[in-house]
Amino acid sequence: MQLWIKSHLILVLAVAIGMIFAEVTAETVLITGSNQGIGFEFAKQYAANGWTVIATHRRLTTPDSLISLAATYPKVRIERMDVTDAEQIEALGAKLKGMPIDILLNNAGLVRTDPLDKPGGNTNQLFGTLDYQLLDDFIHTNVAGPLKITETFIENVKASRQKKIVAISSAAGSVSVPPFMPNGSPIPDHYWYRISKAALNSAMRLISAQFKDDGITVVMFHPGGVRVESFGNLEMPGLESPEEAIGKMIRTIDGLNLQDTGRFMDSDGKDHPW
Ligand SMILES: NC(=O)c1ccc[n+]([C@@H]2O[C@H](COP(=O)([O-])OP(=O)(O)OC[C@H]3O[C@@H](n4cnc5c(N)ncnc54)[C@H](OP(=O)(O)O)[C@@H]3O)[C@@H](O)[C@H]2O)c1
Repeated sequence: MQLWIKSHLILVLAVAIGMIFAEVTAETVLITGSNQGIGFEFAKQYAANGWTVIATHRRLTTPDSLISLAATYPKVRIERMDVTDAEQIEALGAKLKGMPIDILLNNAGLVRTDPLDKPGGNTNQLFGTLDYQLLDDFIHTNVAGPLKITETFIENVKASRQKKIVAISSAAGSVSVPPFMPNGSPIPDHYWYRISKAALNSAMRLISAQFKDDGITVVMFHPGGVRVESFGNLEMPGLESPEEAIGKMIRTIDGLNLQDTGRFMDSDGKDHPW
């Protein structure tokens, strides 16, 4: 065979192998609440790692943060999904039917109604002035939302290579240790948030047991104290930058396997107290 035919054949073969490899390693992550804070940093880092990122948000107009991310990384696909809106969840489920999703990342969360540093803020989550209407919003966003999303996208996860479901929970959901107050006050705060994160952990434990035989790994993270915009000017010891905290979680998620399913962990993968 002439030399140029041989070299063309080798080139064609190399391209074909490259295409197969790209197909196998073309991982996809779906992230809720990805327009700011922890969710945005996950979207940014997974996109920079070459992943297909389904970046969801609840805004009426597409957030600028996601527009510029998608402009930098063409594999970022922006979709609207309010995690409390069953119709929107089902509509996106129908749109993405058949698409493997390696990591379903339940990040969106309702934490508080006022910035952490607002004097006199968030009394609606303090004993004595609890706003009971608000409990519904917390349960809807932090518990029912991730459950409905998992029900809707479970076949996408089953069809993927990595088969992982991640919930961003919080140390606030721990019930086995005395509550830690970010402002140093001895009075427990954020009742609804804490209660909803404990319930989220319970929901994810159920899902982990239900889908272990399908090879799906389900974990919950306490991401640590992560300095996000919505913290306002609050400073407290141990706060990490989003780059650092999310970088750690991504490395931990990379190393997860089925034996980890049902675990509640810190960003570095160590067990967090329930
Ligand atoms: N930062 C920390 O130190 C820390 C510590 C422990 C746990 N967490 C957990 O980490 C997760 C992310 O929090 P964050 O600190 O990044 O807070 P954040 O900056 O306030 O971001 C929260 C995200 O959730 C979205 N969201 C809220 N309700 C939603 C809904 N109904 N549908 C869709 N998206 C919704 C928000 O959208 P909008 O922009 O439209 O409001 C926003 O994108 C939460 O689950 C939180 O509990 C954070």
